[in-house]
Amino acid sequence: MKDSRMFHENISTDCLNLTTTSTGGDAFQKKGHSARILSPEEAERLAKDKVLMTDFKQLKLEKEAQKNWDLFYKRNSTNFFKDRHWTTREFQELKACREFEDQKLTILEAGCGVGNCLFPLLEEDLNIFAYACDFSPRAVEYVKKNSLYSTERCKVFQCDLTKDDLTENIPADSVDVVTLIFVLSAIHPDKMRLVLKNIYKVLKPGKCVLFRDYGLYDHAMLRFKSGSKLGENFYVRQDGTRSYFFTEEFLSQLFKAEGYEQVVNEYVQRETVNRKEGLCVPRVFLQSKFRKPFAKTEVLAD
Ligand SMILES: C[S@@+](CC[C@H](N)C(=O)[O-])C[C@H]1O[C@@H](n2cnc3c(N)ncnc32)[C@H](O)[C@@H]1O
Repeated sequence: MKDSRMFHENISTDCLNLTTTSTGGDAFQKKGHSARILSPEEAERLAKDKVLMTDFKQLKLEKEAQKNWDLFYKRNSTNFFKDRHWTTREFQELKACREFEDQKLTILEAGCGVGNCLFPLLEEDLNIFAYACDFSPRAVEYVKKNSLYSTERCKVFQCDLTKDDLTENIPADSVDVVTLIFVLSAIHPDKMRLVLKNIYKVLKPGKCVLFRDYGLYDHAMLRFKSGSKLGENFYVRQDGTRSYFFTEEFLSQLFKAEGYEQVVNEYVQRETVNRKEGLCVPRVFLQSKFRKPFAKTEVLAD
């Protein structure tokens, strides 16, 4: 199956010929505030791709977003995404946000899919209670059926993060860490703020959202064929699921407008080998951390 997500998820080994920094256990990668620089050919190709999908088709995609993700899980079951064992390694926050070593943390995995991020986290850290939600009913069922699912350690529920109030399932101001991993990119840019507003309600003051998602000029963005463009840095895959590619500035403004404080917000660039195609490809992600302040800052008008 040809899908841009295969490049994001089914990674592969890092190329060794990149000038990089190595951070602890991480393989070679570059972190920082500079966006990836395109080659002249790549820049020309992107500049040529100006035609946007019609409003009618875009509206249909928006209406069918939930259905399209549910069909994605019908087709792929739990086999598409790899488990994300990097979560605790890359987001040291989980350890850092404990005031004492054995402190039990309440987390929310927003847009959990079939639990590729959730279950490794529960396995690696026994002192966690996890809420998890997704708008795909199939994904939620897969999470419930996983042998690692236990109602003592987690509660999964169906929820459209742009519409359904999280406080119906999670007490307000009760969550220590929210993980938002490759989820916001699947949501229309006009509705992303609704997700952040929703999450804000359940996050404890002083606690953070950990974000990781596609960054500008990631290889997946350059692979879209003409006719897939929905807007600036926003594309649709063949299966109707959509993907936004974030700039640091866009994300920063989005969170700050909802009252969050920026703690970290940077590009992670690495070259990975796609084993199947034998290609070394440039990957760009945005890895960030935003905090809900203790005293609510003034939010911009709706
Ligand atoms: C690329 S998957 C990532 C899943 C998971 N976070 C992970 O890292 O494996 C994106 C997920 O976002 C979910 N999603 C997209 N829009 C959503 C919305 N409005 N509300 C809740 N979930 C949504 C999709 O159903 C899908 O499971």
